[in-house]
Formats: sequence, C-alpha cells, structure tokens
Amino acid sequence: MALRFDPIRPEFGARVSGVTLTLGLSASAFSELRRALDEYSVLVFADQPMTDAQQIDFSRLWGPLEPTKGVNPASGTFFARQSNVDIATGTIISPSDRRMDYQRGNYQWHADSTFKRVPSLCSILTAREVPAEGGNTEFVSTRAAYEAQTEDERRELDSLTVEHDFSVSRGRVGFKFSPEEAAIYPPVWHPLVQTNPVTGRRSLLIGAHAAAIVDWPEEKGAALLADLLDRATRPELVYSHRWQVGDVVIWDNRAVLHRATAYDNVNRRRLMQRTTVSNPAVLETPAYRQIEARRSA
Ligand code: OGA
Ligand code: MN
Repeated sequence: MALRFDPIRPEFGARVSGVTLTLGLSASAFSELRRALDEYSVLVFADQPMTDAQQIDFSRLWGPLEPTKGVNPASGTFFARQSNVDIATGTIISPSDRRMDYQRGNYQWHADSTFKRVPSLCSILTAREVPAEGGNTEFVSTRAAYEAQTEDERRELDSLTVEHDFSVSRGRVGFKFSPEEAAIYPPVWHPLVQTNPVTGRRSLLIGAHAAAIVDWPEEKGAALLADLLDRATRPELVYSHRWQVGDVVIWDNRAVLHRATAYDNVNRRRLMQRTTVSNPAVLETPAYRQIEARRSA
C-alpha cells in the first residue's frame, strides 16, 4: 500500500494512511514521512496502537529523544505523560493535586520544550485512554501566522530574539516551581523567527513559554507577543483533534502551537504518552550561533 496524505486544512495538517508505524518502516517510507512533516506540520495517524517500547523505537527514527526532567510524573524517562491517571496506582488523581495544576499549563497555546536551550523538532503523542467527551488537542500554524504579516512586519520580526521561560508560563496558570525546580530550566533565547531548512518557509516561535523580546522594554515585548499569539490562534485557524485510542499525532514544534482542552477529569480517564524529539542541529545555524555569542558577551 502506498503512503497517502489527505490535507486537513489549507495551511497545515494531513491525515496519513497506507503505513503501519510499528512494523518497521522502510527508509523511503520514513523519508516520505519526514518530508511530510516539513510540509504539513501536523501528521495524524488513526488506528496505530503502540506500546511504550514501540513508541520509543518509532520516535528514535526522527532524532534524539529528550529525557523528561522535573515535575512531569514520567520524569527520568523519555515520556511526558499527560494524564489524570496516577502512574503508580492507576487511579484518578484528585483535580486539586499539584500534578493536575501542573498539567493545566497545557491548556495554554504552546510549542513543546521552547523553554529548553536545545529546541524540539517534533512531538509524538499517542492516545492510550481517552474520555468520551472533551480532551481534544488543538493546533494552529505559526508558519501561516508569519506569512500573514506584512513585509515590513516580517522584516522587523526577522531581527528579534525571544526569551522563553518555563517558570513564567506555568506561573500564568498559577503553578509555582520550587527554587530547585525552577533552576532546572533557566530562561533561554531563540530567534523569534525559525526557518525550515528544507522548505525555506518561516514560522514564529511563540506561545505560553515566550516571556519577553530580548532588548525590548518588558511591556512592549509582552504586547508584541500577545498580539502575535492572538492573531495566530483565531478560532477559524484551529484544527481540533478529537482523539480515539490508537491515534498517533506528530507535530512540528517549530511551526505549530497546540493546547489541550478540558474534559471531565474527575470521572473520566485520559492517558496520553508523548515522546519529544530534540533538534540539536539547529544550534549550528547562523541565527543560533549569533544568539549564543550575544548571550555569552
Ligand atoms: C503535550 C500536550 C496536549 C494534550 O503532550 O505536549 O500539550 O491534549 N498535550 O494532552
Ligand atoms: Mn505540549
């Protein structure tokens, strides 16, 4: 069977069929998928159940995996666990538990790991248990957001550096890190505009973790980031993914934002397993080298 891509929206997203991800992909099938991620930014696969070990094997094809550190219950593994199910007991966690407060951070539009010095290429999320209603994951394209700017606006954005800070983004939902937790992820700098090395298309690295524009007054930077986020996330631009058990969704953290949506987390179980692929190669690009030089100056 040949791989098939059915576009979801004009700006981004494709449903992928004609492949079984756990059967060992040929090099040519994988390179088609890799190219499709550059093109579509979000790839949706139905009916591809996988075990943790199969997810790790599949994820490694995309690049080095990020170990999970800090507050996530799967800390110390290659998984970030998005769930109201206690990892040790298998029972539902109380909504007032600190672990659930932490997960509320995912209700904000964000790209994964932008608070890390080495940014992420993509995330791979698999649905293990899903509630009957709600608990969708929503996506918007920051490539479309960039391309919708005027040429003058784009020229200005191209020159900016953005500071991302995990303590700031979790603080926005009232979650406070202890000093030890905060020290794991000090603020980091990225080019506001990311360029896809294959397609040459540009996108914005914004979202909840984006805290400031470097060298700009605090208020002016915050206002620009809020305006970019508003324009990127208008309701008519959103793809909302309704999960079925066995779904696999891969998204390009350079080019889309995503967020979790609410569900009845007192009575319904939800378990999603995320692996996150790191993008160390981008640190060798001129844009990142300039930033490193400025930071250490
Ligand atoms: C994630 C995430 C959203 C969700 O896994 O990175 O933000 O709907 N998940 O669980
Ligand atoms: Mn996320």
